[in-house]
Amino acid sequence: MTYKACLFDLDGVLVDTAIYHFQAWKNLGSKFGYVLTEEQNEQLKGVSRVESLNRILAWANYSATEEQISAWLIEKNENYLELISTMNPSEILPGVVDFLGQLKKAGYKIALGSASKNAEIILAKTGLTEWFDLIVDGNMVTKSKPDPEVFLKGAMGLGVEPAACVVFEDAQAGIEAAKAGDMRAIGIGEAEMLGQADKVIPTFVGVQASELLQF
Ligand code: BG6
Ligand code: MG
Repeated sequence: MTYKACLFDLDGVLVDTAIYHFQAWKNLGSKFGYVLTEEQNEQLKGVSRVESLNRILAWANYSATEEQISAWLIEKNENYLELISTMNPSEILPGVVDFLGQLKKAGYKIALGSASKNAEIILAKTGLTEWFDLIVDGNMVTKSKPDPEVFLKGAMGLGVEPAACVVFEDAQAGIEAAKAGDMRAIGIGEAEMLGQADKVIPTFVGVQASELLQF
């Protein structure tokens, strides 16, 4: 199969924002006396903002009012925006820029498929925007991963058949979304965590696109 497009998740694939999300959720949790653990934060990777808060409230066994939920979603995001305000190109994950360069040179189309509503800000701060032919983010979808909507919109926007797309994801929900969209999925991280992926690589360091994209 000759693939034509590569679709990238943002958080945990191109940049490591999980630490900032974790900090902001922990700060919010302290409002209702809950201490979020690192293991729980792992389970929030790839999960939308509103669904993340729902999960945290369920773990905390706290029943919040609609007003509290709306206010807390805003508060968490304001805190998160403050935490990412100093992000810069040094926070791009190792090997990413070299890999994107290889893809461009080889003629692949490149899109972003992220659950985040802050994707454009992060791409701009890290200087990654220019690499993308198309950006699909949390503002443009109604269903979050594992629903394939974000990646299908990416494929459609690029004018490429889903079967000719390869998705790069660090979260299980994202791998499931890619597979549900009839795309190939490459996991970034540990194989045990990303069982459904067609291939798993620990990082992009030293990765040759021409070899990796042979399935
Ligand atoms: C995903 C992250 O990419 O985006 C999640 O892995 C996050 O942790 C989600 O909750 C939504 O992000 P944002 O920036 O819209 O709150
Ligand atoms: Mg991710």
